[in-house]
Amino acid sequence: MDGNGRWAERRSLPRTAGHNAAEATVIDIIEAARSAGVGWLSLYAFSTENWNRPGAEVDHLMRLVRRVVRKHAPLLLARGIRCRFLGVADPRIPRDLARDFEDLTTLTGDNRGMTLTVAFDHGGRRDIVEAARSLIRSGTPADEVTERLFAEHLPWPDTPDVDLVIRTSGEQRISNFMLWKVAYAEWVFPELLWPDFRAPDFLACLHTYRDRDRRFGGLPHQTNGDAR
Ligand code: IPE
Ligand code: MG
Repeated sequence: MDGNGRWAERRSLPRTAGHNAAEATVIDIIEAARSAGVGWLSLYAFSTENWNRPGAEVDHLMRLVRRVVRKHAPLLLARGIRCRFLGVADPRIPRDLARDFEDLTTLTGDNRGMTLTVAFDHGGRRDIVEAARSLIRSGTPADEVTERLFAEHLPWPDTPDVDLVIRTSGEQRISNFMLWKVAYAEWVFPELLWPDFRAPDFLACLHTYRDRDRRFGGLPHQTNGDAR
């Protein structure tokens, strides 16, 4: 969800106004994904690197996310959305925010409509290091470590590999997002800033994805089994 700061700067507003404007897009995209039949939607809200931002902006984001989570919990429940949070390890996260995350996870845990993962204080490298620690602690002999077993030690191991990553605002970087699971993801980089991004733009990304030929290192579908 990139481009909040630039959205605000273009309007001569403080960066925090851009973050506030992001809320409407978040709800719009959750509803659009649910209606389109998306089974798993993940939103990258705050990275382990975002702690490097000015304290006032970080504090604003913490308060904003808490407000959004509390305000929209009934909607998420009504839509049958199962909510989870990925990351949330840093002691600087306000205690009451972490508790709201836990409460929403529990409240929506039996929902089966769509799984919404909010990556908050998330870092793909940290997840990989934590998985390695967990494997070592389990006493698994080195020769028995497989990709499948390793993946079971990542957080939320039932989460499938990522099919499509949408990064708004024209930036073309991974920025430490779900590094293990994006191994064969398709990527789209809409120029729109996140607060301007809306359901039709999201659906356009899904159409782009549908037209991609995913080969996973194999051959194009047409020549499958007919190698010349
Ligand atoms: C994304 O918008 C939101 C967060 C990282 C929390 P940015 O704040 O990165 O917006 P730009 O990149 O400065 O425009
Ligand atoms: Mg940015």
